[in-house]
Amino acid sequence: MTLIFGHRGYAAVYPENTMISFKEAQKAGADGIELDVQLSRDKELVVIHDPTVDRTTDGTGTVRELTLEQLKQLNAAHQSKTVDFASIPTLRDVMEWLVGTDLLLNIELKNVVYPYEGMEELVIELIREYGMEERVILSSFNHYSLVYCHRLAPDIETAPLYSEGLYMPWVYAESIKAKSIHPKFRAAPNEIIEQCQQAGIAVRPYTVNRKGEMKRLFKVGCAAFITDDPHLAANLREES
Ligand code: G3P
Ligand code: CA
Repeated sequence: MTLIFGHRGYAAVYPENTMISFKEAQKAGADGIELDVQLSRDKELVVIHDPTVDRTTDGTGTVRELTLEQLKQLNAAHQSKTVDFASIPTLRDVMEWLVGTDLLLNIELKNVVYPYEGMEELVIELIREYGMEERVILSSFNHYSLVYCHRLAPDIETAPLYSEGLYMPWVYAESIKAKSIHPKFRAAPNEIIEQCQQAGIAVRPYTVNRKGEMKRLFKVGCAAFITDDPHLAANLREES
């Protein structure tokens, strides 16, 4: 069965990367959630996509220059049509809730713009604290960081993110010890998905929001995909 990961939770309807978005993704039928992690000024793991808070909150400034206390005061639902207020969660906030569910968790390390020295260690420490090693996939566009994660924690799955066609991605994945790949959906034609999965490399394309694309991935037996609309995906899966 093709698994469904809610991108930043249920971002099509709820404010991205917030607890309400993650909880609604689960209610909508997601098997897992995807979220983005960065480090605050006081080295707390916070769940937010952009290097600044400007787009997704009512504040301004750079995430790494704000303390957790400052970040927690911001409203991450300021432009939402469904929710009045939502705070920026820490990764611990998410783990605390998620550990009592059967959801999978894809943690994207947002460490391309800023490397966030020490972030890999902190994320792995938290995964171990909650005993979530089997349920977490670490992904990043920074593939060096994933190699480092594998060195620190070979038991935790890693998945390189990429947006353009990659030559023989299953060979590449094996070379960096990744058990899966997370390509942009356009970089994941059926033959690539089939070749990867025959080689034992799971494919989870992002961000899949169109019905036709979802149907293609269900039909080819893709391991999973990441979508803003887990409700639509779950309904289509029932029909397929
Ligand atoms: O993990 C898939 C996707 O989230 C990667 O791109 O920019 O939405 O974080 P982005
Ligand atoms: Ca992401």
